[in-house]
Amino acid sequence: MAIRGGSSFALAALLALASVAAVAGEVFFQEKFEDGWESRWVKSDWKKDENMAGEWNHTSGKWNGDAEDKGIQTSEDYRFYAISAEYPEFSNKDKTLVLQFSVKHEQKLDCGGGYVKLLGGDVDQKKFGGDTPYSIMFGPDICGYSTKKVHAILTKDGKNHLIKKDVPCETDQLTHVYTLIIRPDATYSILIDNEEKQTGSVYEHWDILPPKKIKDPEAKKPEDWDDKEYIPDPEDKKPEGYDDIPKEIPDPDAKKPEDWDDEEDGEWTAPTIPNPEYKGPWKQKKIKNPNYQGKWKAPMIDNPDFKDDPYIYAFDSLKYIGIELWQVKSGTLFDNIIITDDPALAKKFAEDTWAKHKEAEKAAFDEAEKKKEEEEAAKAGEDDDDLEDEEVAADLAVGQDLPVLPFFVIRSFDACVETLLRS
Ligand SMILES: *[C@@H]1O[C@H](CO)[C@@H](O)[C@H](O)[C@H]1NC(C)=O
Repeated sequence: MAIRGGSSFALAALLALASVAAVAGEVFFQEKFEDGWESRWVKSDWKKDENMAGEWNHTSGKWNGDAEDKGIQTSEDYRFYAISAEYPEFSNKDKTLVLQFSVKHEQKLDCGGGYVKLLGGDVDQKKFGGDTPYSIMFGPDICGYSTKKVHAILTKDGKNHLIKKDVPCETDQLTHVYTLIIRPDATYSILIDNEEKQTGSVYEHWDILPPKKIKDPEAKKPEDWDDKEYIPDPEDKKPEGYDDIPKEIPDPDAKKPEDWDDEEDGEWTAPTIPNPEYKGPWKQKKIKNPNYQGKWKAPMIDNPDFKDDPYIYAFDSLKYIGIELWQVKSGTLFDNIIITDDPALAKKFAEDTWAKHKEAEKAAFDEAEKKKEEEEAAKAGEDDDDLEDEEVAADLAVGQDLPVLPFFVIRSFDACVETLLRS
């Protein structure tokens, strides 16, 4: 190793300091669902008396990059899920807030949520459910072909404000990391797998406050405002005799029939045909209006109802994280949750968990798919044999049971509608 000069030592020291600073953020909550997770999470009784509360499975799933890295997975179809954990209350006033978690939809999700909520104040965790007020809701939501998006809902004064930007979510059956960053300068970013997918201003991408500028309601279009783009050409005059051209003329080719008897049949007149010279009623040509002023628009003025809220991005109390879902088909697995004030720390957490295992997970998934296909092919072969047997049987005994109708089709449609109504 070459001998370093003093300045490189200083630089090295600086770099070391900088890297310490980069990871010096505060972690408000972190959950890897290792042993003991059940003591931190409270399963809600919501929907229990209707027998509609689903069970969570502590597992790394059917395919994974590390069998020891478990999360919690919805395990029953057509169920509601509600679970939450408490952490020391904090406010994100004047600081950055990072909410991040990973989610994997092993079931090839057709309709259901994969989002989490941050709640404040006092929440009866045993009663946590769909109606429990929350501060932030964030994460993917899929229903049918129309809804495949990342929700980012901010609640202010009891009103849920959805992000106005469309942020598509991942739709495959692998683990993905969703990150929401809200900064004290009222900007935000949404990341999927550590890549920024959307960013901007909380002021602009949510309608939390009334608009800063509005159209002046007092303004009126001036009487002499000329908003006609085209006008009749004053130079264009009706040609002399134009109106004398008849619409129809006697057919010049018509001949009086030989056997026409003027006395008996009356005077013969030729039948009429449309006049090729006739051009319809005369209309003045249109020309561009030289005085055209454009469409009139009311001037924008400051909205008297706008009151700036410098803490538009902030929540006084963040105290719980909750997962509250409706799932038609279960199999959504949550893991590696972090709530921090340091995006670099969250990024590193994702690198150390999801990124480290994603190749192995993909390989395990491909393997599982291959196995499934082989099994299905083998089964299809058997079914063909069965079918032949059945055909023979059907020939022998007519009047078998009808095949079972695929009710799940109807069921998932209902569920989609329900999810839409609930959101
Ligand atoms: C939990 O998940 C594992 C892995 O997918 C599965 O083998 C097991 O059957 C699941 N248990 C329940 C109760 O769903």
